[in-house]
Amino acid sequence: MEAVILAGGLGSRLLPLTERHPKHLLPVANLPFLTHQLARLADAGADHVVLATSYHAGAFEPVFGDGSRLGLRLTYVTEPEALGTGGALRNAADRLDARAGEPVVVLNGDQLSDHDLAGQVAGMRAAGAVVSLHLVEVADPRAYGCVPTDTDGRVTAFLEKSAAPVTHQINAGCYVFDRSVVAAVPAGRVVSLERETFPGLLAAGSRVVGFLSGGYWADVGTPAALVQASADLVRGRVRSPALPGPGGSALVDAAATVRPTAHLGGGSAVGPGALVGAGAVVDGSVLMAGAAVAAGARVTGSVLGPGARVGTRTTLDGVAVGDDATIGVDCRLGPGTRVPCGATVPDRGR
Ligand code: GDD
Ligand code: MG
Repeated sequence: MEAVILAGGLGSRLLPLTERHPKHLLPVANLPFLTHQLARLADAGADHVVLATSYHAGAFEPVFGDGSRLGLRLTYVTEPEALGTGGALRNAADRLDARAGEPVVVLNGDQLSDHDLAGQVAGMRAAGAVVSLHLVEVADPRAYGCVPTDTDGRVTAFLEKSAAPVTHQINAGCYVFDRSVVAAVPAGRVVSLERETFPGLLAAGSRVVGFLSGGYWADVGTPAALVQASADLVRGRVRSPALPGPGGSALVDAAATVRPTAHLGGGSAVGPGALVGAGAVVDGSVLMAGAAVAAGARVTGSVLGPGARVGTRTTLDGVAVGDDATIGVDCRLGPGTRVPCGATVPDRGR
């Protein structure tokens, strides 16, 4: 099996965490996010994966190398100017092997899912379709591609980010493409799979099918979603072939320091060189490399970028702290707060 991962988006909903890093490499359960996708692809039988990169393109290869550690062969492709999801796929397609008759798996590089990928490929073949879209149901479909299907599972429309969605069934961002469809995407210009390619295929009467699954699915595109996905992996609520064991209440890197009176829980992940001080509470949070939580601080549902520091007795709830930012003592920051990289939040009362 060959696959393409679309990993060139700006990740602007994840700022400030994506100011210095692509979202696809942010640590989720202490591993660069794409590790989970790559391990899953390898598990499903993929042997070659093309990474379609653009934003912070040079950051990927130093992390994954030739892919052999994951049992894969990796090829890196960069768009000097972002080409959109379709343009990125077309650009990456030139680097796929020539494997006549074998479909290509395409993933949005920010999806965490445990659906049956091999089943999706088989389902597309059995239906004689040219594209299969993984579909899930969500409570609020407005932020996604809304994808109604008929009783046979054939896709009848593709409505990207519709303000008035006609179904709760959405595009989960994992596709299987017949190679002829990839080759037909125009080269050398911006193309959106969601706004151009899929609606175009449907208008032309091509057979596009849905593969609906009811298991775990998340798009890690916001700080809250990233923190949730990390905690779900750590607690074993979703399995990643990149992680051993059944999960637990927290995951602490061997090179982190956690004082004995600190309390870690809720699936928190503590990265290398991070420090959790005496009596501090870290619940359902992500501490990236070198982040520090001082004594008596309380960090809940939050994410601290590399080198971020949280002062004594400070409380963070639902906060995203950028790289190397410093939050003083006795502060209180609530849901949705974003602290820019390198910023300083002064001690409270000063
Ligand atoms: N190489 C490259 N170049 N990759 C890109 C580009 C580009 O120009 N633009 C976006 N991507 C990548 C992103 O990095 C991400 O992995 C994926 O394509 C999807 O882009 P997002 O920006 O995350 O899109 P979204 O989350 O708003 O919507 C998409 O995902 C939803 C599911 O989470 C759409 O596919 C929706 O239809 C879908 O429901
Ligand atoms: Mg996304």
